[in-house]
Amino acid sequence: MAHFGTATGIHGHTSADDDVSKRLLDSAATLSYDPATEIDWDAPLPADGYGLNPEWSTLYGTRLWDEMTEEQRVTLTRHEVCSIMTTGIWFEMILQQMVLRDQYLKNPASAEFRFALTEIADECRHSIMFARACEKMGVPQYRPAAAIAQAGRLFKATAKGELAYGGILVAEEVLDVMQRDWMRGENVLDIVRGTSRIHVVEESRHMKFARQEIRERLRGAGRARRRAAGTGVAVAAFVIVSSMVHRGVYAAAGLDTERALAEVRANQHRKAMMRTSSGHLMAFLAENGLLNRSATAVYRRVDMI
Ligand SMILES: [Fe+2]
Ligand SMILES: [Fe+2]
Repeated sequence: MAHFGTATGIHGHTSADDDVSKRLLDSAATLSYDPATEIDWDAPLPADGYGLNPEWSTLYGTRLWDEMTEEQRVTLTRHEVCSIMTTGIWFEMILQQMVLRDQYLKNPASAEFRFALTEIADECRHSIMFARACEKMGVPQYRPAAAIAQAGRLFKATAKGELAYGGILVAEEVLDVMQRDWMRGENVLDIVRGTSRIHVVEESRHMKFARQEIRERLRGAGRARRRAAGTGVAVAAFVIVSSMVHRGVYAAAGLDTERALAEVRANQHRKAMMRTSSGHLMAFLAENGLLNRSATAVYRRVDMI
């Protein structure tokens, strides 16, 4: 497709890079879902259905979990999954704006441009899907702390290149690992299994796109730039991971918030789950020179390493 312009565009985008986007567009054309028709939104929720697999509950493996009634566990996992979904919506809004800004006046003939817009359309459906799932489970919105919400506002307005796509990749990877378990969870609610399946399929393309964009933007980048990007992505990961489950979920399940938070902080099972599920992402970051010493220290604080 060389006749559409020079081989390299604004950020050194080559026709080989565009082939990646072309394949992703083909995949999107054959395997995409409409959650409005794919999910049975009217089916009643069984009283004993968990919001997420118990092993993914922040309290699983603690003494408090053993003391809880089955009803409290069901309530807690529903609030936890809705809190994570709401964080997902928040982050999808941030990334839609970053991708849209990034594509401003780029060549509409390129596959990169078209895939980027396809991704925005996916995210738009995802956010509506998560909003409906939370409404169905009867869980009200959990908002990030005010300072974090403002930091997100700044990030979405200014982050670009490898920093923007790094933040996107981290959010997508973290959610992906959990949702692969949720979509198969035997005692997990059908709406959570269904929405997770849709998300996992469509996000696998987004993650490929983000990895490609990161490699592309970092081509020829020196150590200082990689260090800055690596640290920025780690800070974004810290914010995402520490905002996922809102502290309000414990009171919603009739638990003492301070005790619950203390048990979550000391929960070795939780830390092991986070570490295992971050392995793939950490390998990619290391490969691209984005895992410097200060980034590693940040990832350690949220148990991703
Ligand atoms: Fe999404
Ligand atoms: Fe995505």
